Amino acid sequence: MTGVCALIPAAGRGARFGSPENKVFAPLLGRPLLGWTLEAFARCDAVERVLLIGNETDLPRLRELGGTYGGGKVRDVVAGGADRQASVLAGVAACGDAEHVVIHDAARPCVSPELVAQTVAAVSAFGPTCAATAAIPVADTLVREDDANTMLAGTNVPRERLWAVQTPQAFRTRYLVAAHEAARMHGVRGTDDAGLVRRIGRVVQLVPGSPENLKVTHPADLALAEAILARREGAAAAAPDVRIGYGYDVHPFADGRRLFLGGVEFRDAPRGLLGHSDADVLLHALCDALLGAAGMGDIGDLFPNTDPAHKDRPSIEFLREVKARLDAEGYRIANVDITVLAEAPKIGPRAAEMKNTIAAALGVTPGRVGVKATTNEGMGFVGRGEGVAVHAAALLFR
Ligand code: CTP
Ligand code: MG
Repeated sequence: MTGVCALIPAAGRGARFGSPENKVFAPLLGRPLLGWTLEAFARCDAVERVLLIGNETDLPRLRELGGTYGGGKVRDVVAGGADRQASVLAGVAACGDAEHVVIHDAARPCVSPELVAQTVAAVSAFGPTCAATAAIPVADTLVREDDANTMLAGTNVPRERLWAVQTPQAFRTRYLVAAHEAARMHGVRGTDDAGLVRRIGRVVQLVPGSPENLKVTHPADLALAEAILARREGAAAAAPDVRIGYGYDVHPFADGRRLFLGGVEFRDAPRGLLGHSDADVLLHALCDALLGAAGMGDIGDLFPNTDPAHKDRPSIEFLREVKARLDAEGYRIANVDITVLAEAPKIGPRAAEMKNTIAAALGVTPGRVGVKATTNEGMGFVGRGEGVAVHAAALLFR
C-alpha cells in the first residue's frame, strides 16, 4: 500500500465562468488558477502524490503546470469524463494501490494545506469513518421556492444543522470505489463523492472548512479569490523567516604558530593558536553561528579537520564559503556579534580592522558586525593564558 494520493479534477469546461478556455487556467495573482491549488498540495505533507484529471485538449498544459507548481508530486495527468463523477472515476482507476485518496476541485484555489491534512487525518485515524469532507455551516436564510416565479412566497427551510459541502474530501479508497460502483449500477449522478459514500450507508465525517475555500464558478468569484490570496501573500511577506544562531569555539596556544583572529594577523604575538587550519578561533565561532542559524550543521561538517585540503588554510575562506551557502538558500545577514575571551593579545586596537575584514567577507556594512573582548580576570584556562575562547551570535532573515 502506498501513501495518500490526491485527485484533482480539472476536466470541466467552466460553462458558468464563460471564458473560451477552461477556467482553471484563468489568470489569478500572477499565475494560472490551478497553480494555487497545486501549490497547496505541494505544501501538504499528508499527500504523497497528486493526480490531475483533465480534458484531452488540456492535458499538455496541465502536465506543464503540474511540473511547475506541484512540488514534484504530480506523477500523472489523466483524461476525465463527461461529468465530474466520470472524471473522478477515471482518476480513481489511475491512483493505484493507495489506501487513502483525497479529492479536491481544481476550481478551489484558496484551499489551505492544513484543511487538506485535516480531512486526510479524519479518515486515517482508527474508527468507522470511511470518508471526510470539508463543509461550512449555512449562514444565509434558506427558502424553497413554491414555484419558479414566486420564490419570495416560498417556504423557509430551517438552516440549523445544514452544511454547505466543499472539497477536499478524503476517503478510504475501497469505500470510494464501492460508492462509485454502486452509483454506476443505480444510475445515480451526484455532485460530490462523499455524497455517494453516504448513499452506500457509510459514515462521512464533517471537517470544518472555510468560506475562503470558495469554488470559482462565476467570473466574480475570481476577484474574491484574488483578494484572499493577496492578503495571505502579503501576510507571508510581512513575516520574514528570521533565524538566530549561536557559535562557540576554543583553541589552545602553541609555540611556533602565527596568531590569526578575525581574519587579522597579530605579527608581534609570541605564539599562535593550535589547529588544523590557521586556527582563527574567532572566525570558527562566527561560521558556526551562521551555519547554526540556517540549520546547515557546523564548521566541522563543512571543513573536516581530517581533510589535508584544509591544512593551514586561512579561515576567512571558510567564512566566504559559508556566506556563499547562505546566499544559495536565500538568507541575508541582519547582524553578527562576537565576544572574544582572552588575556592576550589586546583586541580593542585591532577590532575595527577585524570588523572591516568580516564585513567584506559577509557582504554587509561594518556596522552590522560587532567585535568585542574581555579577559577572564585570571580565572580558568583562559585566565591562565592557555588559550582563547570565542562566543558568536548571528541573525539571518529571508
Ligand atoms: N470537473 C471535471 N470533469 C467534468 C466536470 C467538472 O473534472 N466533466 C471538475 C472541474 O474542472 C472543477 C470541479 O470538477 O475543478 C468542479 O466543477 P465545476 O465547478 O462545476 O466546474 P466546471 O464543470 O468546469 O464548470 P461549469 O459547471 O460551470 O461548466
Ligand atoms: Mg460543472
